[in-house]
Amino acid sequence: MNPKVAIRSETDADVGAITEVTVAAFRTLEVSNRTEQFIIIALRAARALTVSLVAEVDGRVIGHIAFSPVAISDGTRNWYGLGPVSVLPEYQRQGAGKALMQEGLSRLKDMNARGFCVVGHPDYYRKFGFRNVPGLVLEGVPQEFFFALSFDGHVPRGSVTFHDAFKANE
Ligand SMILES: CC(C)(COP(=O)(O)OP(=O)(O)OC[C@H]1O[C@@H](n2cnc3c(N)ncnc32)[C@H](O)[C@@H]1OP(=O)(O)O)[C@@H](O)C(=O)NCCC(=O)NCCS
Repeated sequence: MNPKVAIRSETDADVGAITEVTVAAFRTLEVSNRTEQFIIIALRAARALTVSLVAEVDGRVIGHIAFSPVAISDGTRNWYGLGPVSVLPEYQRQGAGKALMQEGLSRLKDMNARGFCVVGHPDYYRKFGFRNVPGLVLEGVPQEFFFALSFDGHVPRGSVTFHDAFKANE
């Protein structure tokens, strides 16, 4: 872990840097459709950025993570979706992503969130102990790429819907 990484909540002054970090992180990612920066802006405008944290090194924003509310068809409330999460390419593999994840989950638990879910690569998310949950699905996403973690033992069943802001493309 880069000992200089500090995690804190976003402020108004971070908005431009968060866009830059997000664009840079996803630029070369094959599965990305390059709309992640628009999703963050739309979530913020909808007041749905429940947790939005930046990672800083020497006062420079080098990473960002967002959590927003999701709806679950069985009526379970107080669950959140993770994403996007980004670290500038030159700062990756130094622990910033992990630090953002740990602080994000800690903040969600402090808010009495009941659980969270994320779409992503199994090699990465399994490291955090996240698992595919049979019976909890995100339409259009293969089950092996959809992860969930219950904080309170209740495991919802049904279909998950991320915030409308995830459809933002400009
Ligand atoms: C995914 C991302 C945020 C991870 O950030 P990071 O700062 O590089 O991650 P960390 O250094 O904290 O790594 C945490 C763990 O995951 C592993 N890891 C990091 N990137 C990985 C990858 N692409 N595939 C598999 N494992 C990975 C690390 O080795 C580390 O494991 P360890 O704890 O056993 O050593 C960053 O690589 C990124 O911005 N990628 C582009 C955007 C993206 O894919 N976002 C996620 C999808 S929404």
